This record gives sequence, structure tokens and C-alpha cells, in this order.
Amino acid sequence: MTLPRLALAETLVPDLLARRPLWLEVGFGGGEHALAQVRAHPEATLIACEVFENGICSLLSALVPEGDEARAPLPPNLLLWTDDARLLLRGLPDGCLDRLFLLFPDPWPKARHAKRRFVHPAMLPLLARLLRPGAEWRVASDDPTYQAWVRDVMAPQTLFETAEPATTRPLGWPPTRYEAKALRAGRQPLYWAFRRTEAPADAAAVAALPIISGSPEQSP
Ligand SMILES: C[S@@+](CC[C@H](N)C(=O)[O-])C[C@H]1O[C@@H](n2cnc3c(N)ncnc32)[C@H](O)[C@@H]1O
Repeated sequence: MTLPRLALAETLVPDLLARRPLWLEVGFGGGEHALAQVRAHPEATLIACEVFENGICSLLSALVPEGDEARAPLPPNLLLWTDDARLLLRGLPDGCLDRLFLLFPDPWPKARHAKRRFVHPAMLPLLARLLRPGAEWRVASDDPTYQAWVRDVMAPQTLFETAEPATTRPLGWPPTRYEAKALRAGRQPLYWAFRRTEAPADAAAVAALPIISGSPEQSP
């Protein structure tokens, strides 16, 4: 009963431009970061995307007490997308996003699965189309293969300004469940903040991005 009250309907997508600043989180997991951001930033609207049912339930149960799903007040600045985030991204208007969060994405560590990684040369033109110049794209990862991959993908491109990643979580980056697990296991997360440049996104490359069907599989 709570989900329909928060779900972003495709018909509402064109109205999103009226909501500024507009932020989007891909793969919110248990929703700790998404909830902390909407509470700390009532001025921003956050679209939080997740396909994992248990994660969606965690976020919903943190929001509303059991039994009060139909009436409990909900944050007016939170919208949920419970399908593959890449399907939503394709339908969003140009330059609509002021911030994008990708925190501890599935690493897909095997080389033959690299095409499934969210940070990917083929994804950059689409992300560049959506993020307005100056907008921030935050990426965190604890996986050494993914960390090296992010460096390699971001180094040669001009759509985003790059800087060395932080080795401790920057202020204003609420913690996530997955990050806590990584720290407990002794892994070293890296935290990047990429800034969208003025370089135009290549429309042909956006159009060439393969259509995605079905939900993303769980990373092995
Ligand atoms: C390793 S978990 C990290 C979750 C959370 N960000 C955290 O740090 O605790 C990655 C999450 O991304 C979700 N995910 C992967 N690909 C996705 C996609 N294309 N659209 C939406 N969610 C996705 C997975 O279901 C999973 O819950």
C-alpha cells in the first residue's frame, strides 16, 4: 500500500523538470542512503531505484509503521522506481538531473561480465545527456577490480571532470549497509565525485546503447 504512493509513474516523467534540484540513486539496496538524503535535503527530490524486493521492503518498512501503510505521512521529495534503473534513464529528459548516486554497484568482477557494469564507456553518453553541466555523479566501490575499471573508463573521457577518489567517506555522503559490510571485511572503499562538463553528449552513441530487457541479474 505504501509503494503505490511513492512509485514514479511513467506518465509523470515529463513533469520531473518542474522538480529541481532532482537527484537519482541507482541501486539503493536497503535505502539507508536514500532516506538520509531526503531527510537532510527537503529542497531536493530524489528518485530512488532498486530492483531487489527485499531492499525495497527494507526502505518501505523504515518509512512507515506496520499497519499504517495507507495513511502514514511520506516524504514528499522521495519517488521510487522499482524496475531496472537503465529503463528509467532512457526516458528521462535532457539535463534533468542535478546529482546521480551509484554507491557500491554490483562489481561483475569477471572480465566476460564487464559489459554489465554500470560504469561503462557505452553508458557515459546517456549519463552525460541527463546530468546538467556542473552536476555531480557520485560513485563508491570497495571492489579492487571495479575500482581499477572506474579509473580506466573515466580517465580518457571528457564528459565528466575527474579527480582522485577519497579514501574516507566525504561529508554529506550518508553510509550504506553494503559499505558497512565492506569495512567490516577489511576492504578499502574509494569515493569519486565526477562533475559533468559542458562537452556535448553524443546523440548517436546514446541511440546506439543496447535496449535492456528484464531485470538485472544478481552479480556473482
Ligand atoms: C551491491 S548492492 C549495493 C546497495 C546499496 N547501494 C548499498 O551501498 O548498500 C547493489 C544494488 O544495486 C541494485 N541494482 C543493480 N543493478 C540495478 C539496476 N539496473 N537498476 C536498479 N537497481 C540495480 C541491486 O539490486 C543491488 O541491491
